[in-house]
Amino acid sequence: MKMELNLFKDKNEVAEKFCAYLENLITVREAIYIALSGGSTPKIVFDRLAQNYSHLDWSHVHLFWGDERCVPPTHEDSNYKMTVDHLLSKIVIPKENIHRIKGEAPPAEEAETYGRLLERVLPKYNGMPQFDLVMLGMGSDGHTVSIFPNQIDLWSSEKWCEVADHPDNGQKRVTITGKVINNAREVAFLVTGSEKQEKVTEILQNKPNSKLYPAALVAPDYGRLSWFLDEAAAEGI
Ligand code: 6PG
Repeated sequence: MKMELNLFKDKNEVAEKFCAYLENLITVREAIYIALSGGSTPKIVFDRLAQNYSHLDWSHVHLFWGDERCVPPTHEDSNYKMTVDHLLSKIVIPKENIHRIKGEAPPAEEAETYGRLLERVLPKYNGMPQFDLVMLGMGSDGHTVSIFPNQIDLWSSEKWCEVADHPDNGQKRVTITGKVINNAREVAFLVTGSEKQEKVTEILQNKPNSKLYPAALVAPDYGRLSWFLDEAAAEGI
């Protein structure tokens, strides 16, 4: 695994530099398959993409999600809705290139269906679906996508997608799993804010307990892992 650490002043600079990284990937590839992350960090990235990169040719960009909350696509918790609000409603991209996880479907059924979609649509590498880029966030508990420390076994599932439960509110989530993430050509962590500092430090310093956190298991077998961190999240390293 190749790893790159990119430290920036604040969230704005993280967003600015990630957008430049993404633009490069989009312009050098014929077709590009990207798994987007959810939560709140991507909002500033998507706003910047919509503002400064709407001119890009998005026609060969295929968008997926690393995880989705099991709610309707119009629900405030929906990662798809967040992406529509901040990006998809502001760029020209063929609707057939948008492959959302159907949060409104029965979770176990959708995990199977989305896994089959990845199998069918994504290029293969080593017999497994391969994303060109998996964009990830990290929770302050060290979760990534929707694999939480108390369900870390989901990471090593043989399936491409699993159903997870949010540890606090029990909300069902559909999430891609470690095999798919670590088969990607590029994985990019976007982590900002002082509340993430403790886990970022433990993971990047390879502390003994760090392997209890799903985010610590992100190690692309053949690809490159890039961390995009602001000073607040990177303070301890
Ligand atoms: C989700 C995300 C999740 C997120 C982290 C960080 O659906 O919530 O995919 O893995 O990336 O929780 O979220 P923030 O960016 O909001 O801190």
